[in-house]
Amino acid sequence: MVRAKRAVLAPMAGVTNRPFRELCRSFGPGLFISEMITARALVEGSGATPRMIGFGPEEQPRSLQLHGTDPATVAAAVALVAQRDLADHVDLNFGCPVPKVTRKGGGAALPWKLGRFRELVGRSVEAADGRVPVTVKLRLGIDAGHLTYVEAALAAEAVGAAAVTLHARTAAQLYSGQADWEAIGHLKSLVKTIPVLGNGDIFSGDDAVAMMARTGCDGVVVGRGCQGRPWLFADMAAALAGSAERLRPSLGFVCQVVRRHAQALVEYRGDEGAGVRELRGHMSWYLRGYPVGSEARVAAHAIGSLADLERLFGLLDLDAPYPGEAAEGPRGRRGSERTPVLPEGWLASRT
Ligand SMILES: Cc1cc2nc3c(=O)[nH]c(=O)nc-3n(C[C@H](O)[C@H](O)[C@H](O)COP(=O)(O)O)c2cc1C
Repeated sequence: MVRAKRAVLAPMAGVTNRPFRELCRSFGPGLFISEMITARALVEGSGATPRMIGFGPEEQPRSLQLHGTDPATVAAAVALVAQRDLADHVDLNFGCPVPKVTRKGGGAALPWKLGRFRELVGRSVEAADGRVPVTVKLRLGIDAGHLTYVEAALAAEAVGAAAVTLHARTAAQLYSGQADWEAIGHLKSLVKTIPVLGNGDIFSGDDAVAMMARTGCDGVVVGRGCQGRPWLFADMAAALAGSAERLRPSLGFVCQVVRRHAQALVEYRGDEGAGVRELRGHMSWYLRGYPVGSEARVAAHAIGSLADLERLFGLLDLDAPYPGEAAEGPRGRRGSERTPVLPEGWLASRT
């Protein structure tokens, strides 16, 4: 049984693959959730899915996030996970705001159709057959006029979900504005029998403590704050234990972490070029706030091999100390508010 871990790495497509999860886990305890896996692709074993659902030997418990809109397909995927022992925990994604997903009534659009949502979660719980806890991840709703989180969370609780995570923004907000932590507290006061985890805008150990204190939530789920800062799990463990200790890494320490990340990505991809190219997307997060000249920043985005990475480190002042505020605060995607793309007539009724 997966017990609610107080610090959770949020599922992030393109980010929380095995190398990144293992890196985060090496810094502190938590639950580390995979990128979202399409239920249909899992059932069909197509594309990169077999690699994406792999876990390392140290990854205990193994958390897999599934996404799908059809209750039968998602239930079939969960049954497969349970029967083949592919993971120890399945999280269902009802938070995705991207048009490709919401256009088909998936992601954050789905809880609006409460009956379908209940069926999808209920059938998934049944398919898990008591072997794998099934949790749900919600947004507040579609937009401010179409909130869904309270009914959805209560329905999930009623059909046997093991926990609920609330990213306290609507789909329309994407990642803009501020997460509404009051809503997390409100949900915590209503959901009586399963843990409620809060998500949105945790960028430091102190933010994690503040969210738990303000909302009474059972754990915190952290996404963008970990990008380029996998050691946030050390800070959160310290902060949640009441310690003031924080990791304030020198640039040399950051480079050691980047080197580990690079080596793990190369192994994961089975190809040096592919692994190192994937690392490019993480470089500006790792280097943010540190005194890095423009030549090195350009080089960081052009790395094509592990040797390029070592040459880049040679351009840096590895003794540069932690820059403080410049490396802290909000990071990652923001976007601005946008009307969600929904199936024709979707909002006309909830059935
Ligand atoms: C790059 C990126 C990819 C994401 N992919 C997923 C995903 O696959 N599944 C999901 O449920 N949420 C996904 N999210 C949303 C995060 O899990 C999280 O809910 C959101 O970032 C808010 O938390 P934060 O403020 O700590 O970043 C993604 C977010 C980002 C920034």
